[in-house]
Amino acid sequence: MKTTIVCLTVLILATSATAGVIPQPVLVEMRPGIFRLQAGTAIVAPPGVAEARQVAGYLASALAAPTGWQLKVSESTYPLLRHNAIVLGLSAQSAAPAQPEGYELVVTQRGVRIQSTTPAGLFYGVQTLLQLLPPEIESQTRREAGWTVPCVHIVDYPRFAWRGMMLDVSRHFFSKEFVKQYIDRMARYKMNVFHWHLTDDNGWRIEIKGLPQLTQVGAWRVPRLAKWGTREGPREGEAATDGGFYTQDDIREVVAYARQRFVTVVPEIEMPGHSLAALAAYPELSCTGGPFQVNPGSNFYEKVDNAFCPGNEKTFEFIDKVFSEVAPLFPSEYVHIGGDECFKGFWKACAKCQRRMADEHLSNVEELQSYLVRRAEKILESKGKKLIGWDEILEGGLAPNAAVMSWRGMEGGIAAAKMNHKVVMTPTNFVYVDYYQGDPSLEPSTFGRLLLSTCYRFEPTPEGVDPKLILGGQGNLWTESVPTPRHAEYMTWPRGLALAEVFWSPKASRNWDDFAGRVEAQFQRLDAAQVNYARTMYDVSVTAVRDASGKPAVRMSTELSGCDIYYTFDGTNPDSFTAKYGGEPVLIPGDASVVKAIAWRGGRASGRVVTAAVK
Ligand code: ACM
Ligand code: ZN
Repeated sequence: MKTTIVCLTVLILATSATAGVIPQPVLVEMRPGIFRLQAGTAIVAPPGVAEARQVAGYLASALAAPTGWQLKVSESTYPLLRHNAIVLGLSAQSAAPAQPEGYELVVTQRGVRIQSTTPAGLFYGVQTLLQLLPPEIESQTRREAGWTVPCVHIVDYPRFAWRGMMLDVSRHFFSKEFVKQYIDRMARYKMNVFHWHLTDDNGWRIEIKGLPQLTQVGAWRVPRLAKWGTREGPREGEAATDGGFYTQDDIREVVAYARQRFVTVVPEIEMPGHSLAALAAYPELSCTGGPFQVNPGSNFYEKVDNAFCPGNEKTFEFIDKVFSEVAPLFPSEYVHIGGDECFKGFWKACAKCQRRMADEHLSNVEELQSYLVRRAEKILESKGKKLIGWDEILEGGLAPNAAVMSWRGMEGGIAAAKMNHKVVMTPTNFVYVDYYQGDPSLEPSTFGRLLLSTCYRFEPTPEGVDPKLILGGQGNLWTESVPTPRHAEYMTWPRGLALAEVFWSPKASRNWDDFAGRVEAQFQRLDAAQVNYARTMYDVSVTAVRDASGKPAVRMSTELSGCDIYYTFDGTNPDSFTAKYGGEPVLIPGDASVVKAIAWRGGRASGRVVTAAVK
């Protein structure tokens, strides 16, 4: 009982004290006083450990731009605090028990100490320390600020081993510089897997030296700006000028950059479906023979053959060649083979596919896909890799050692875990950050709906399965409707913050109101870092309902509590002088055709005017 009371006290202190830190650390104990960072503050790394030295260097360079100081990094062993120093210590034991990525952070008026059993833990301690400094610490240029850290004792470790973000670079190409920035930002929130969706119908993005057409042809498409799915296909003779790809040197550079941030890069090479860009380069790998063109975002699905032919041995020679070059580029344990949404209609009419099904006693096209995935798994295993794929790889029988990424809800993941396979949970309704995060009338065009507060409610471990099989979860940024880096940031943040906390922090410490306050604090940091983000949590949601007597009415709410909502029905813009929403449904007056609503907070308009049709 006593322990419970102590823990509760600590957690309450944690909430008020680390107002800005995301993800919420496991245990935080605030102490009186501050540590003042100065030009003469030393950074000390443990001797002879290259990765720990590199973490010290990372900290020095993170501090250098905003403070203008080049803090000296040295190597030494200090069992205790050293005056005016940030000491990184590695030891066989840590206050974060049995957690290789855990750390302990002690800030006193004399100095700072971060202790872990691993360099990764030191890196996460450094991230927390950076978040305890003022927001200006995120600036890339010199800023004047009091560089102080509150005195604190933190013990922290992650809930899940797989804390991922996926970026689709096929639908729109993103430069390696942006990919690095994206990885850097996710690592600041202690995410550790970057799933790189490198191939799809709309562009093949990774150089394969033995298959040069993949990038010479497959990386380029005709330029289009119209809404995705409605775009005009390539015209006769039109030049394919839109696209790009990563050379193998680029890939090595990104992987090394990620590694310095303890982020594992998991490449995805899609098969058998979503492969039109590859087939544009090598049409002989299709059932129909082509010719094909890389799709610029037109509606082609089920009309054009976009799957490899599993009846053709050349398909497997191709997969072998691709994986022979992919495997050594990525230190990751896993390679993702896609496997989702394969249209199998052309297989049914293909003589080679039909022969394969007869020879292998396969009774349907799902089993034919499973045949391909099993062979892909063997090829990957011969190159020292494990296979992971979207949950469609369950259909027709799961490959023996495959891990499953569950996206069509949690069901595929649950089924896989029940068969003792490892699972990463990425259900559309909680982690698809390409979906609308606010009122569609105010947001750039996309599809679906996923609010920040919904991301925050995500629970990756379902009832009734062995939690050890749930590696973790991941946010997915598909980019059909995300053409630019700024917009990729806008879609990722702050929903990525919610997911980072879901994946790292104890389930019991989740608290939406507290989190929302910390998101506001993070907005200042994202501003300083010049990272784009969405402020949709301040917007009003309007829902059509019926009042107690059954008459048409509207209910209004904001994700953030503590907001006042003002509204009008006469088409004028609401403010604090118009009607204030009282919490109960408001009857729609006679001939009103729209309701307009806005949230105010702290005496100021905080969100945008939302206009909803009520006729
Ligand atoms: C997917 O969203 N098609 C995996
Ligand atoms: Zn075929």
